[in-house]
Amino acid sequence: MNHSSSFNRRTFLTATAAASTLTLLKPSTALTAEANSTIELGLIGCGGRGRWIADLFAQSGKYKLVACADYFQDRVDAVGEKHGIAANRRYTGLSGYKRLLEAKLDAVVIETPPYFHPEQALAAVEAGKHVFLAKPIAVDVPGCLTIAKAGKLATEKQRVFRVDFQTRANEHFREAVRLVHQGAIGKLVMVEAFYPWAGGGRGAPPPTPEEQLRQWYYVLPISGDFIVEQSIHSLDVATWVINADPLRARGLGGRKVRPPNSIYDHFAVQYTFPDNLVCSFTCIQSIPFVKDEIRVRAFGAEGIFDADYYTGVMLRGREEGVRASVGDLYTGGTVVNINEFHEDIVKGNVANPTVAPSVRSNLTAILGRDAAYSGEEIAWDVLLKRNEKLEPKLKGLKA
Ligand SMILES: NC(=O)c1ccc[n+]([C@@H]2O[C@H](COP(=O)([O-])OP(=O)(O)OC[C@H]3O[C@@H](n4cnc5c(N)ncnc54)[C@H](O)[C@@H]3O)[C@@H](O)[C@H]2O)c1
Repeated sequence: MNHSSSFNRRTFLTATAAASTLTLLKPSTALTAEANSTIELGLIGCGGRGRWIADLFAQSGKYKLVACADYFQDRVDAVGEKHGIAANRRYTGLSGYKRLLEAKLDAVVIETPPYFHPEQALAAVEAGKHVFLAKPIAVDVPGCLTIAKAGKLATEKQRVFRVDFQTRANEHFREAVRLVHQGAIGKLVMVEAFYPWAGGGRGAPPPTPEEQLRQWYYVLPISGDFIVEQSIHSLDVATWVINADPLRARGLGGRKVRPPNSIYDHFAVQYTFPDNLVCSFTCIQSIPFVKDEIRVRAFGAEGIFDADYYTGVMLRGREEGVRASVGDLYTGGTVVNINEFHEDIVKGNVANPTVAPSVRSNLTAILGRDAAYSGEEIAWDVLLKRNEKLEPKLKGLKA
């Protein structure tokens, strides 16, 4: 069979025609027409992403921000002033989120640093709120298991729980992964995932616990290191495509441009999945002029899947293909998640399908991190059994 002539036979999306339409629409127009009841929202974490996403929720016309929480007063005030939130519904301190959860509201958006996600998300579900949660879901195994529990509890309590991965929300990523799972590129032979990024900086953890809440990225127990905090985007696509837990990982990594007390600046991890499938993964940050990529290539016996967060999705098999630009996925994917979160709440869709894959990819990132830290091969089962918890210094912080 002529490979190239059979390529166009069925599903082929061209780059220009299929460029994400959502990115061309204002968030308000992208939201569904049938889902029209206003959801009262509380924002937990009013930093960079929190402020940005609060605007997107508000612009959709489907949500009203009625409360916010952050450790710092200036952060809640900035969001509060912009969104007309009464002063007595702006909560501060480490337990501010608990007081927010006692308030009358339907849903929470959690945009705090990753260490705090499990306790805040579980408390929100226990309080009967729908949860929209930033990635990564957690920094350690106990945190991932808490999110798995929170997701199940949400379903039991008829609540929606959505994890905000933009790639999982993109129609072209969805279509290409669906085709891989249908066998379009045949049996997987090897997978390659990578995350080179010019950004990330070369800082170190600030000295006091309070400063560490403002600048937490270099603080291992709060961020989980950048393989978990950032490169999760790439490992999430890899595990989505492979559709299995890794069996084990071995890895290396270290600091060549970051100071000794900081997080790593590079990792090289080799994962083994069932059926002896190898996934080779590298991530690196803070290298000038590097081309940013969040990319996964899956090589199949009959073709290839090649997808990158910043550019697009390409799948080429014997019978089917996808070739599509994803446009501004950072905004477009988030808008879809905001849209689908609302639709799920309104329609009572509480299957919460983003939870289990997010637990899987987060644990995969933790496995790679711990393998690289130790220099030893670590099995998935051993990682789970160890159940190690990371503990930041929170002593002396305002409750
Ligand atoms: N593409 C994406 O999906 C994407 C992009 C950016 C950030 N994020 C995620 O969003 C989350 C927040 O990141 P950010 O860039 O906005 O960080 P940020 O530091 O700008 O904001 C975090 C906020 O949380 C507050 N905070 C810290 N500890 C708290 C606590 N215990 N209780 C209440 N508030 C607390 C801080 O004061 C700060 O205002 C992270 O999980 C990050 O990975 C996701």
